[in-house]
Amino acid sequence: MAMESLTITQPDDWHVHLRDDEMLKQVAQYTARQFGRAIIMPNLKVPVTTTAMAAAYQARILQATSDYPGFKPLMTAYLTDTIDPQELQTGHSEGIFTAAKLYPANATTNSAAGVSNIKLIYPVLEAMQSIGMPLLVHGEVVSPDVDIFDREAVFIETILQPLIKDMPELNVVFEHITTKDAADFVEAQADNIGATITVHHLQINRSDMLVGGIKPHLYCLPVAKREEHRLALRKAAISGNKKFFLGTDTAPHAIGDKESACGCAGIFSAPHALENYVQVFDEENSLDQFEKFAALNGPAFYGLPINDKKVRLVKKPQQVPASIGHPPLAVSPYKAGEMLDWRISTD
Ligand code: DOR
Ligand code: ZN
Repeated sequence: MAMESLTITQPDDWHVHLRDDEMLKQVAQYTARQFGRAIIMPNLKVPVTTTAMAAAYQARILQATSDYPGFKPLMTAYLTDTIDPQELQTGHSEGIFTAAKLYPANATTNSAAGVSNIKLIYPVLEAMQSIGMPLLVHGEVVSPDVDIFDREAVFIETILQPLIKDMPELNVVFEHITTKDAADFVEAQADNIGATITVHHLQINRSDMLVGGIKPHLYCLPVAKREEHRLALRKAAISGNKKFFLGTDTAPHAIGDKESACGCAGIFSAPHALENYVQVFDEENSLDQFEKFAALNGPAFYGLPINDKKVRLVKKPQQVPASIGHPPLAVSPYKAGEMLDWRISTD
């Protein structure tokens, strides 16, 4: 008989955009409701580059999630060409910075202050390597002569592979991988190289975004690729391989900023993240592998304990609301209006 419920260790989300101010207040509860911890991305309008900024942002997140007192936001530093290695080391040793994020300059939302040439931050990366502070990478090149669908694969060849060779002990998370190339690459590396996989990249390919009318709410970066890549990501996620773990990349933008002549990149998947992920594992007849991907592999990579709490998922349909929050900041949740097979049990 097919499984109708599943109880697992409470998962964590290893890649989250919570924003700030009113948007933070509106969206943070959706992450905190499901996850024990979340790695918080630092790409605010003014990027999080110092320990003091991260500590203040963490306090605002805790305030916004006070209904879920167990929730723990893990903070990251935004790497720039000129970031001070000492600031990172201090932030890491004080327990404020869990990791640092590399955005190639202009690769995505709020990345203008990102790194223009990785060689410029080699001293910083060396310091991170020596203290065991993980590097989280947005793995896309930005050169205008590289096609947007090839940007991840070219990043592997031109940036990631040489970096790993130069810094073999650096812990690296290749964030939100979208290609078979990335899944194969990560699998072939040593244990200090891992990857997050979003739920939308397990569920949609580029045709879903573009056929029958453009779907701005399915546009994100890295952009969804061909079906063969989606299938490779599903295979990696259900494999149980400890290198692969859950990271939604939930990235809310107000509806008007998505449904626009120049629409923002980002999918707001937080509200039903676990329900969608478990649906993938169910479809793949791999529910027995779900706990590893969602709750065990990530903590092992980061050297953190697994959560004490358990979460129960039940196979009982629910409908995703058409929108969440209040204008002008209302957001369209991933799969707005659609039916989901699973839900999180609240009893
Ligand atoms: O789709 C995306 N949205 N990809 C990113 O890398 C950034 C994110 C955002 O902050 O909106
Ligand atoms: Zn992201």
